[in-house]
Amino acid sequence: MAYTPAYNRYQSMEYRRCGKSGLKLPAVSLGLWHNFGHVDVLDNYRRILHLAFDQGITHFDLANNYGPPPGSAEENFGRILHQDFHGYRDQLIISTKAGYYMWEGPYGDWGSKKYLVSSLDQSLRRMKLDYVDIFYHHRPDPDTPLEETMATLDLIVRQGKALYVGLSNYKQEEAAKAIGILRQLGTPCLIHQPKYSMFERWVETGLLDLLEKEGVGCIPFSPLAQGLLTNKYLKGIPEDSRAHKSHGFLKEEQVTPEVLEKIRRLNELAIKRDQTLAQMALAWILRDKRITSVLIGVSKPEQVTDSLQCFRNTWFSEDELRLIEEILR
Ligand SMILES: NC(=O)c1ccc[n+]([C@@H]2O[C@H](COP(=O)([O-])OP(=O)(O)OC[C@H]3O[C@@H](n4cnc5c(N)ncnc54)[C@H](OP(=O)(O)O)[C@@H]3O)[C@@H](O)[C@H]2O)c1
Repeated sequence: MAYTPAYNRYQSMEYRRCGKSGLKLPAVSLGLWHNFGHVDVLDNYRRILHLAFDQGITHFDLANNYGPPPGSAEENFGRILHQDFHGYRDQLIISTKAGYYMWEGPYGDWGSKKYLVSSLDQSLRRMKLDYVDIFYHHRPDPDTPLEETMATLDLIVRQGKALYVGLSNYKQEEAAKAIGILRQLGTPCLIHQPKYSMFERWVETGLLDLLEKEGVGCIPFSPLAQGLLTNKYLKGIPEDSRAHKSHGFLKEEQVTPEVLEKIRRLNELAIKRDQTLAQMALAWILRDKRITSVLIGVSKPEQVTDSLQCFRNTWFSEDELRLIEEILR
């Protein structure tokens, strides 16, 4: 059936300015790391994309290697984009990345000019796009001079293949250098994409301050710790969960009794706040105004609807924050 986006899709979403740029992003964005590959079910991920856009999610995040197999998430996204979102390209922010292993030989990984330019060309072909809105270097490369990688990001913008550029997985010191080089080149860094959740707090010890000072946005990935920060593992490992799937990046061994005890206590607090744990975990990140957007993943359309209810309560009392710290200690 043909898809027509909901007429009221911009009414309930909050849009936050990305650092000091002109771009606004939805406070919740959708990532296509899992559940959009050739191993997944087309009707399911198609419905997820429709529902997300209907609820004001304008930003979809990809990378060259998302699948499995690698590249298939971009292919599938591209197909749905052209089939269902025809005429809506200017209402979408599409990002992709390169930096992890993608093809054999010395030019299919890390951060050289050869790899990044070739990889983005491949991504554009897979998605059948003329340009992406944001192109990221996916992880720092210890062997390629940072100047070469940043000059390539600048080149890609000047060639019109990306409108903005970003960094992912760069620690504070590396990020500071990269942001400085990009500024000198005249292509400011738009955004940084770090891993950040209640279970992964490293950005709080300097990166967030740096990004604020430099006017760079921040879009944390895996804000639900890949699904751990929900109530789904409290009664065992469900068959349709990421931890159970053989190709998922969350392993059953990560669902330890210690982690489960934290989840149980956090879940109790969420219930008292009249939220699901997923909603509370997202609200807890979004309460910090330095955060531009939280980058969620979902395996089912209902998870989009559930997670977006996080906006109903993003306020935390001092007592609640203290209790969360105690649980996470
Ligand atoms: N830059 C990088 O290096 C990097 C790395 C990783 C991810 N990312 C980006 O970040 C995006 C999000 O990462 P992620 O998928 O790990 O995020 P996440 O939001 O932490 O985890 C997503 C998983 O949580 C579960 N879930 C989501 N909403 C739920 C809800 N309301 N109730 C119950 N369970 C819920 C689902 O698990 P089930 O599948 O078990 O249902 C879903 O697959 C990726 O798609 C990608 O775009 C970037």
